[in-house]
Amino acid sequence: MKRSMYCGKVTESSIGQEVTVCGWVHSRRDHGGVVFIDLRDREGILQIVFQSENASVFTIAESLRSEYVICVKGNVRKRPEGTNNLNMFTGNVELIVSQIEVLNTSAALPFEISDYVETSEELRLKYRYLDLRRTNFQKNFIMRHKLSNEVRNFLNEEGFLDIETPFLTKSTPEGARDFLVPSRLYHGSFFALPQSPQIFKQILMVSGFDKYYQLARCFRDEDLRADRQLEFTQIDIEMSFVQEEDVMSLVERMLERVCKSVLNIEIKTPFEKISYQDAMLRYGSDKPDTRFDMEIKDFAHELKNCNFSVFASAINKGGIVRGLCIPKGASFSRSEIDALAKFVGEYGAKGLAWMKVTSSGAESNIVKYFKEEEVKVTISKLNANVGDLIVFLADEEKIVVQGLGALRLKLGKELGLIDKSKFNFLWVIDFPLMEWNMEEQRWQALHHPFTSPKNPDSINKENVGLQKAKAYDVILNGVELGGGSIRIHKSNVQKKIFDILNISDEAANEKFGFLLDALSYGAPPHGGVALGFDRMCALFGGEESIREVIAFPKTQKTLDPLSNAPSQVSDKQLKELGLKVVVKQAKN
Ligand code: AMO
Ligand code: AMP
Repeated sequence: MKRSMYCGKVTESSIGQEVTVCGWVHSRRDHGGVVFIDLRDREGILQIVFQSENASVFTIAESLRSEYVICVKGNVRKRPEGTNNLNMFTGNVELIVSQIEVLNTSAALPFEISDYVETSEELRLKYRYLDLRRTNFQKNFIMRHKLSNEVRNFLNEEGFLDIETPFLTKSTPEGARDFLVPSRLYHGSFFALPQSPQIFKQILMVSGFDKYYQLARCFRDEDLRADRQLEFTQIDIEMSFVQEEDVMSLVERMLERVCKSVLNIEIKTPFEKISYQDAMLRYGSDKPDTRFDMEIKDFAHELKNCNFSVFASAINKGGIVRGLCIPKGASFSRSEIDALAKFVGEYGAKGLAWMKVTSSGAESNIVKYFKEEEVKVTISKLNANVGDLIVFLADEEKIVVQGLGALRLKLGKELGLIDKSKFNFLWVIDFPLMEWNMEEQRWQALHHPFTSPKNPDSINKENVGLQKAKAYDVILNGVELGGGSIRIHKSNVQKKIFDILNISDEAANEKFGFLLDALSYGAPPHGGVALGFDRMCALFGGEESIREVIAFPKTQKTLDPLSNAPSQVSDKQLKELGLKVVVKQAKN
């Protein structure tokens, strides 16, 4: 027997026809004299019916168990009145089996194959091939495929060339730890897996390829979170003779196209642009979720002369006071407010001041320290209404920004303020070029050291703190989807930046000499961007974690329970590589 159709595609148009389908036994219901089986394949589920009149197939039907693989032939008919299943795409039809072949049996399952059964992630990943049989996964990967296809179509039509760059290469500075690969022929020397194709795509511009793209695998040895994996995929793009606007507009057109063709939603372009400074002030984050308001306001000016010593002293010490308004939060109990204070404590805050907005002004343990005018200004600046709760943090800037940013997100989620149907894209721009690393007492690049300053000619060690970068991040619903920049294309500017970053000539030459050399041979002005493709798939599929759109991801503990990687290797292999393991550590 040879398959003629997918189970999930059999609908009314096939009624009266003989079809052959193959798939897995999803469930079996024995009704005495009739056996119903939900047969599942990649496209969906079809109800197949075994009748006792056909004794030979009926006997086989009775022996079928979950996840047996079968091939059946039969006639498609309309389901009898009242037995339709409106939740199934194939719910108006069923197939009356005339012939069956059992292609394989299955051992008892470690967990049920259903979208609704909760199973530990460890177990799911150990049996990933079973996990991936769930319809939700089949849906996610079909969508992922459509998405990459559309992205490629779009970029091809725009004249981009798909060019591969090496995996075995030299370290690229994207800020994470490198994965190293020991060289067999040169003991003590290592390749690094690319954190991104950054340097190579710039070199391709020097070579004159003009418009490059690649769905590139990147490797970063960092702590995993819901939106981070050790290896992930970027839609990596680089273009010559462009400005920020050109790259941003390309990304907007690409996202507009894929949203329409894959999700059938229209998004508004150009995206809103917000400066880094503004994002940090209003949302306490460089990747603001603008699906809800609850904006943070600064009160350094309005409250600098107040009698509340916590605020006054924070401001006097060069710190800040900021607050936000929690709609209907006045009903929070003391212990609920204490829990919020504990939450911001994780970001270093020493407390959380609060005021309940009432019809007669404000109420709280600290209201007595404020003049009437100060309370009034606070309420009006936050647009607070009677019944709301205002909370404040006073401290050094970083603690206040992070604490309130995280609190805003937590409350947005918990109070149900986020409209999940929204697709809020925006650009964060005007990033500082560098940030001061307090611990190491040196400047470090906010993006990577190849990012062009807005004023490359006037930059020096004294004014670098004020310099902005020609960089942009694209944000979707509070997730950093991608980022990029216009690059430095002149080797003298690149050298100056390395100097400010305290990277000596020698170190720069050793690490990036090949890029500096390339820039000296007529490098065109160029810039680009990289979008996290896994994050895009997760957001488009409505998933919380990128693990739901990656076929074989690692666990939070960076392990692969399916293959048991990482694993120890033989002494022979180590010897060949000139390596010796000093301490063998058990996993976990
Ligand atoms: P950046 O480091 O910002 O830029 O990375 C670009 C995008 O890649 C995604 N991403 C990740 N996704 C999953 N797991 C990870 N560990 C991970 N790390 C990053 C994010 C991020 O926005 N070379 C530059 C781009 C450029 O300047 O053109 C770069 O790699 O969505
Ligand atoms: P105290 O005078 O220490 O009892 O604090 C009075 C209120 O101010 C309490 O609600 C504290 O949580 C709050 N508080 C203390 N330190 C800070 C701070 N740095 N920022 C905001 N509120 C604070």
